[in-house]
Amino acid sequence: MNKASTARVTLDPENWDEFRSLAHQMIDDTVDYLQNVSSRPAWRPMPAEVRNSFSEPVPHSGVGAAAAYADFRERILPYPNGSIHPRFWGWVQGTGTPLAMMAEMLASAMNPHMAGFNQAPALVEKQVVRWVAELMGYPADASGLLVSGGTMANILGLAVARHARCGFDIRQDGLQGAGKRPKLLVYGSSETHTWVFKGLEFMGLGRAAFRSVPVNVDYTINLALLGEMLQRDKEAGHLPICIIGTAGTVNTGATDDLESLAAIAREHNTWFHVDGAFGAWLRISEKLKSLVAGMEQADSIGLDLHKWVYLPFECACVLVRDAELHRAAFASTVSYLAMADRGVMAGGIPFANLGIDLTRNFKALKVWMQFKAHGIGHIARVIEQNVDDVQYLVDYIRKSKEMELLAPAPLNIACFRYIRSGMPDDALDRLNNEILLRIQEQGIATPSGTTVDGKFAIRVANTNHRSRREDFDALLEAVIRFGREVEMK
Ligand SMILES: Cc1ncc(COP(=O)(O)O)c(C=O)c1O
Repeated sequence: MNKASTARVTLDPENWDEFRSLAHQMIDDTVDYLQNVSSRPAWRPMPAEVRNSFSEPVPHSGVGAAAAYADFRERILPYPNGSIHPRFWGWVQGTGTPLAMMAEMLASAMNPHMAGFNQAPALVEKQVVRWVAELMGYPADASGLLVSGGTMANILGLAVARHARCGFDIRQDGLQGAGKRPKLLVYGSSETHTWVFKGLEFMGLGRAAFRSVPVNVDYTINLALLGEMLQRDKEAGHLPICIIGTAGTVNTGATDDLESLAAIAREHNTWFHVDGAFGAWLRISEKLKSLVAGMEQADSIGLDLHKWVYLPFECACVLVRDAELHRAAFASTVSYLAMADRGVMAGGIPFANLGIDLTRNFKALKVWMQFKAHGIGHIARVIEQNVDDVQYLVDYIRKSKEMELLAPAPLNIACFRYIRSGMPDDALDRLNNEILLRIQEQGIATPSGTTVDGKFAIRVANTNHRSRREDFDALLEAVIRFGREVEMK
């Protein structure tokens, strides 16, 4: 055998003791960072020199781990969007937990390939999916997959719906058959999250395949209009493939009448998918579960675990009641991935056959650890606390003469604005936008903005396990202070 002419190279540390001490330092710093999060501003704008510094040339030779870490601490760590802060209530995000952060580190250390394989991590994912299915009221033989986020979970549910309800094989039909095919249609309220448009484009159906059903005054889907639309479309020869119900809409937290949607889907022989990105988790609370009654009848559910289970991004789950249909929508067999009876490939690659990704990470570990360590009962109490705190905010706004609610706030989301008597809506829009930006830019808190019924609203969406009552008081105080202060031209 020839002697190697050059030294072997690897990316492992040259000096493990040095690496160990740097790693300990990273963990110490990070635990401090999390423990002291409330002492920092909710958000801080990046100085121009930091912003401009991200135009470095490709680092062809390395600076070493310690220098890269020092650079991270200086230029990256201080400038996140702030989702871990106790006063972050923008959009619908999530806060992460210290334990799940460590679970991510452990999962990365193992770095198992999660297409499937004969390994304990695959059993962990199967177990976690079974837990989630059980919590959502699904049968034990239902199927599911952990994915990146609610968008992907919902799109996968929709793809299974298309596969299940098409009535013909789009692949064999080919272009020649296109003229003969009925138009495939998907129904959901006008408050349905934009994932549906991405999904329809991705699936080649186009966004025009979405039938947007008007909502009632409480922002839930209008069932009578849905029924009429279905009837009309069927009479025109179109094929309704899916009705989407939302448990907790992104804008106002409204939950459609899921029991009735399930019945309508049965009547029209169409798939019923629930987008439960955050609202699905109401089901683990005895106090709140009645709000999502009927969800368990859905053919598929998309839900996040990085919103209301508070896991670090990214983590979500798609559940499909009929396991065979789920597999049939995505599975394929190729020789280089053939299943074996023994060895590493025993059991095959079940997860790769349930979604888009072949190479997947071990996100199941953080779910498993979070569930085991904290228990579902504790997570349910935090969810209830999120809803209670927003109801506290809502009560305050209702009693105030200087603020008004712009939409019903049944859950953990409130849309409101500061008002000055006699000021027209367009000026109030500008005033409230300015109030919102000052609150964000001064690092007081991070609510977001939206438009409700044509009016600009300051919006609080609470999926934050760190917020305390005084954080909401600070927000209210700031809204009123800036509301009085801001001069309008
Ligand atoms: C109701 C609803 N559906 C879907 C999504 C998309 O989820 P993700 O951001 O995890 O992709 C969101 C996000 O806020 C949502 O609120």
